[in-house]
Amino acid sequence: MENNIYMTEQGLELINDSNYPYPVVEFLNEERKYLQSVIGHYDVLLEVGCMTGRHLAWAMKNNVYYMGVDVVEHYLVEARKKACDLGMPLSKYKFVNWNAESIDGVLNEYDLRKFNSNRILIFFPFNCFGNISNISNVINSLKKSGCHYLISTYKTDESTSKSRLDYYKNCEYKSLSSRTNEEGVVFTSQEGFKSVAYHPHWLKDLFNKACLEFKACDFSSMGIMYANT
Ligand SMILES: C[S@@+](CC[C@H](N)C(=O)[O-])C[C@H]1O[C@@H](n2cnc3c(N)ncnc32)[C@H](O)[C@@H]1O
Repeated sequence: MENNIYMTEQGLELINDSNYPYPVVEFLNEERKYLQSVIGHYDVLLEVGCMTGRHLAWAMKNNVYYMGVDVVEHYLVEARKKACDLGMPLSKYKFVNWNAESIDGVLNEYDLRKFNSNRILIFFPFNCFGNISNISNVINSLKKSGCHYLISTYKTDESTSKSRLDYYKNCEYKSLSSRTNEEGVVFTSQEGFKSVAYHPHWLKDLFNKACLEFKACDFSSMGIMYANT
């Protein structure tokens, strides 16, 4: 994993609520509402970049099987502990160390193929997608999975970039810088942090080349969802 800030204490700052300016709080509330509006169509929520199990308790309430994947083992250790402390039934969830770039593989490896593909939602929360180094491989893997995907990410307008800057500054990253290029708006820091908000047209081209449907829908002041449903 190129973007290894998540292996360090500084990575945890990104999921520390006290670092969230209001637009990020609103983004997360609206992200949850969006999920709530679609979850009735699914039996499985596969959360990619799940950190410490962001939507696990919520998934349990909605009676869907939950699988959380991340590439950082210590998040998964924390996630399993939280689930155990909350008394979540082991038969209803799993946390595995797995890479988004080969997400279709997790379906075979962990027996998720027993569910109808149309009833599995592969969900990327809180701009996890923009933290992944090789999105072309992710897109190909999504295609192979045959499942529905939902990507929660940021817009690329100025006001959103300002809110992201406030958020990352609160994380106290050093030498934060941002640039806009043909792909989107990219933030980097001295610690190795790299977070991209892709331009919708840039992503649309990549998804269409992989013969995957691609729809966009704004949510909150700074959020945009991409999906094939
Ligand atoms: C949810 S995001 C946080 C991003 C942040 N909110 C932002 O504004 O960019 C980051 C999560 O994605 C995970 N992640 C990064 N690359 C990944 C990959 N290739 N496969 C799976 N998870 C990945 C990280 O370990 C971390 O838990």
